[in-house]
Amino acid sequence: MALPVLVLLALVAFAAALLWSPHAGRAAALHLILAVGAMPLIFGAMSHFIPVLTRTRTAAPGLLGLPVLALAGGALAVGALSLPELFWGRYAGALLAATAAGTLLAWSRRRRAGMLGPPHPCLAWYEAALACLVLALLAILASAIWPQHSTALHRLHLHLNTLGFVGLTAMSTLAVLLPTVAGMPDPQVGPRLRRDLPWAVAGTLLVAVGSAAFGPLAWIGGAVWAVPLLRLGTRWLRLYRTEILALHGAAPLLAAALAGLALSMMLGAAAPITVAPLTVAGWVRPTEPALVFVSGFMLPLVSGAASQLLPVWLRPGVQRSWHSELRDRLGRYGGIRAALFCLGGIAAGTGHEWGLLLGAATLIGFLLQAGVALLQAFVSQKRKGS
Ligand code: HEM
Ligand code: HEM
Repeated sequence: MALPVLVLLALVAFAAALLWSPHAGRAAALHLILAVGAMPLIFGAMSHFIPVLTRTRTAAPGLLGLPVLALAGGALAVGALSLPELFWGRYAGALLAATAAGTLLAWSRRRRAGMLGPPHPCLAWYEAALACLVLALLAILASAIWPQHSTALHRLHLHLNTLGFVGLTAMSTLAVLLPTVAGMPDPQVGPRLRRDLPWAVAGTLLVAVGSAAFGPLAWIGGAVWAVPLLRLGTRWLRLYRTEILALHGAAPLLAAALAGLALSMMLGAAAPITVAPLTVAGWVRPTEPALVFVSGFMLPLVSGAASQLLPVWLRPGVQRSWHSELRDRLGRYGGIRAALFCLGGIAAGTGHEWGLLLGAATLIGFLLQAGVALLQAFVSQKRKGS
């Protein structure tokens, strides 16, 4: 039951942050989405998937302490970024979250060592993602020791977290999830994941170090990251175009998430250029890669993955008609939601505040639809049981 609670917490945190964003500081609202909503959910999802990927027994209930520790770290970060008197909270929060991430990484390494045969290639992506998060949080701790380098360390932190921690987790999960959603396996998934990981990791490190120290390096990193993104995108368009362009289901949302990630990288790479003369002249609005990242990428990603995974997470074990009916209800009008998230993401990323509100309204619509679907599912379960 822990994972559905983490999904709900994440979706509510997303909606609250988007509605709060016009009044809150930007960093505080972003961390409500990324550190309070997404980070604990990713920890929960990883502790569910790592035993599957290593073909070992399911995680002990005690491991749930890690998402809770990460949540406490994220909450401290939001407090510290919104209240000046809680300034110390950023270091305490980073320490708690780094401890949780390091422990999850060590647990995954132990599971890998204890298994027979090689693990699924997705495991290496998860471990690289956790290593990026640990480094990103160490950068915040380092800014306490070297405050004169805070700007560079914050750039390191934000790129390692968005492209590394969230980006690597999302890319590998999407690559495995879409064929399942479409009901059509792709034999290339494993070999492609194995081949693409060095590109994605090298791209992340180059962007992070480049943005902190030497811009041109960052653009090389962006080009390197584009290789796995383009490979996955073109493969999907070849194999799953019908499912992606459908009116219902999770596939349009997962494809929208991949497009949102690509767009936030493009705007991220363009931001340092567009900020200067063109925006001062009023020709173009400053681009906002972080806002596309949350509204054009995180929202379709989490709501799409939730539509597919909630039924299994609520009732693990043998899959029955209860699961497929609930999945159909959660995925109803997924195509329209995907289009609205895309539109909201593009608007928010090009400096139009209504884009965030459109994202929030679409998400709240999904939360209501999910509430009704869950209620119907439990009523039908009770009726069958009695
Ligand atoms: C407990 C954990 C965390 C702490 C203590 C923390 C702390 C910070 C701090 C101090 C800043 C600089 C803010 C400023 O310039 O005023 C920052 C920026 C940022 N962090 Fe985090 N962070 C945490 C987790 C995360 C996570 C998990 C993500 C993404 C997945 C993330 C993404 C970002 C982004 C995108 C920015 C740039 C914000 C902006 O554009 O204003 N952080 N973080
Ligand atoms: C993959 C392609 C990316 C490249 C090549 C890139 C490159 C850069 C560079 C060179 C800088 C330094 C800017 C300067 O010197 O003025 C920078 C800063 C920044 N980037 Fe990125 N970036 C990328 C992706 C992203 C993404 C995905 C996000 C958001 C989620 C993002 C958010 C930011 C922010 C908020 C800053 C400003 C940090 C500050 O206030 O100092 N970037 N980026």
